Amino acid sequence: MISNHTNKPIGVFDSGIGGLTVAHAIQQRLPNEQLVYFGDTAHLPYGDKSEAAIQAYSIKIADVLLAYQCKVIVIACNSASSAAYELLKAYVGSKAHVIDVINPMVQVVNRTMANKKIGLIGTKRTVQSGVYASKLAALPTPVVVHQLATPLLVHMIEEGFFDNKISYDIIDQYLSNEILRDIDSLILACTHFPLIKKEIEAYYHHKVAVLDSAEEVATSLAHYLSENNLLSTHTQPPNHTFMVSDYTASFEVSTKLFFGEVVKLTKHPLWE
Ligand code: DGL
Repeated sequence: MISNHTNKPIGVFDSGIGGLTVAHAIQQRLPNEQLVYFGDTAHLPYGDKSEAAIQAYSIKIADVLLAYQCKVIVIACNSASSAAYELLKAYVGSKAHVIDVINPMVQVVNRTMANKKIGLIGTKRTVQSGVYASKLAALPTPVVVHQLATPLLVHMIEEGFFDNKISYDIIDQYLSNEILRDIDSLILACTHFPLIKKEIEAYYHHKVAVLDSAEEVATSLAHYLSENNLLSTHTQPPNHTFMVSDYTASFEVSTKLFFGEVVKLTKHPLWE
């Protein structure tokens, strides 16, 4: 990639605002990089959609991010990573580098969790895709992952139910499932779930390592930019852009939970 790309933005997308947990980790790690975020709120949730539908949405969003000349596209959604990562890489070609949220997590497991019993919770799409299972099985020390689809958690978080009786009950109901019995570690395979990480750790009395990929994704992005001389030369944090395919005031209010501050969302004209 040519070096005049250094000050081009990093594109980040998700089905909604859950991917802001990844955008936030990137902002913390690389404060001088400009972010262009796209939340496909018109099609949320991706977790219940077909692979073909998610692929079509992802291509349309990639076109938007390429129009902003993004040097990297981060798929900040496990459902989209499992359905569309390979397709997007082929589609984008040399125009941008594509990073998903699954491969960085697989590397964490590879480094730190050999011979452990690993559980995973995520959307139906992510679990049914079998992408985590096949990538973890292909590691030098193969890992068997015990997966449970937990679709209600996405809706619960979107509705602002966490750290209360409803969320404790739903989390308890899912995590007590036989599939996750006696695990040493739990992969949070959904970018919404960092918001309930503390509740999940408390459920396990802090005896199970709860892994989310946001920081790993930021680290993997930092390495890529540094190795390819693509780190921004801005000396001040630049202004970011946050777009959605469907705007509601409640999405905007919820951004504070995911990004640590309220961000202004604008509706992209292609979805008018
Ligand atoms: N953020 C999505 C993910 O990581 C979950 C939400 C959805 O189903 O759209 O899979």
